[in-house]
Amino acid sequence: MKLLVTGGAGFIGSNFVHHVLREHPEDEVVVFDLLTYAGNLENLREAEGNPRFRFVKGDIADPEAVKPLVAECDAVVHFAAESHVDRSIMEPSAFVRTNVLGTQVLLDAAREHGRRFHHVSTDEVFGALGPDDVPFSETTPYDPRSPYSASKAGSDHLVRAYFHTFGLPVTITNCSNNYGPYHFPEKLIPLAITNLLEGKKVPVYGDGKQVRDWLHVEDHCRAVDLVLRRGRIGETYCVGGNGERENIEIVRTLLSHVGRDEGAIEYVKDRPGHDRRYAIDFSKIRTELGWEPSVTLEEGLRDTVEWFRTHEDWWKSVKSGAYREYYGRQYGK
Ligand code: NAD
Ligand code: TYD
Repeated sequence: MKLLVTGGAGFIGSNFVHHVLREHPEDEVVVFDLLTYAGNLENLREAEGNPRFRFVKGDIADPEAVKPLVAECDAVVHFAAESHVDRSIMEPSAFVRTNVLGTQVLLDAAREHGRRFHHVSTDEVFGALGPDDVPFSETTPYDPRSPYSASKAGSDHLVRAYFHTFGLPVTITNCSNNYGPYHFPEKLIPLAITNLLEGKKVPVYGDGKQVRDWLHVEDHCRAVDLVLRRGRIGETYCVGGNGERENIEIVRTLLSHVGRDEGAIEYVKDRPGHDRRYAIDFSKIRTELGWEPSVTLEEGLRDTVEWFRTHEDWWKSVKSGAYREYYGRQYGK
């Protein structure tokens, strides 16, 4: 199969590219990515020179750039997005443009050429859970609460609409919070690890008792790959990590890995509209496709800290330039 991987220079997309090139020796991959602040060719260094891999720079919202690439591939695996909630609070318009309009442009190209389309989405489209609520599943009503999750919800609805209206062969995965190699250090885990390695403090929003379900990125890539090849057309699959933790627990675990104490925690102003809890019931993908997470949060966090320790050049370069401006704006430093 020849795959068009949008957003393949970002965190999850690049891990997916390495996964496919490793696990499917017959497959070819074309990455299409705008290289926004979150896209980084360093994430794809390992694939460079592989005759089954090609990189094309461009915008998913540009139909002329998208059409010929969709035409030459068998399937689109759509990761490209503006992905950070805090940035969506600062500047919602880029989220609507890329996540909603960009997805529609890709869907039109897939429709024109009758291509298989897999859409990568988030559990945040379902809103927020209380402490005693049952986890999200494929039947949970949509209730997005941030500009990011609202734009992802819009894209999910468009993908389903193209299935029902035009018969486009689509699947969707809605997954929980990923972590692992190449994670951009604006998100909690890589921000905390790199700040700690730099001797800085970790900003914790509000009381730190918000709950996220953490999924190792390699487990997520396996799930996307399975749904792409064996998922039922028109279906949605929820993908979870069995890793529900309060943010403060995650931070404390990271402190212990790097040998820092509680003095390295800085409680800061809460995020507006902060969703209290996410959790996922992944029994559908387990029953239908035999998928379940294989990396425990304990081993995944340990390995991730180790990855950041051994990839200092990568994150130091990512944390320079425009990142500093973002950090100053977000954290008042
Ligand atoms: P990321 O921000 O690390 O990467 C996004 C990539 O998309 C970047 O390489 C960027 O350059 C590219 N991109 C952005 N706008 C583009 C455009 N207009 N045209 C082409 N490329 C563009 O994101 P990520 O964390 O790897 O997330 C990938 C996908 O997975 C997103 O759709 C996100 O909503 C979804 N998701 C992420 C998580 C998570 O925990 N990170 C969880 C659930 C779902
Ligand atoms: P994040 O990694 O931004 O993912 P999302 O908002 O998509 O879940 O945040 C994970 C959790 O960590 C979320 O509850 C917000 C919190 N958080 C902090 O407490 N401090 C931070 O500096 C960041 C970036 C996030």
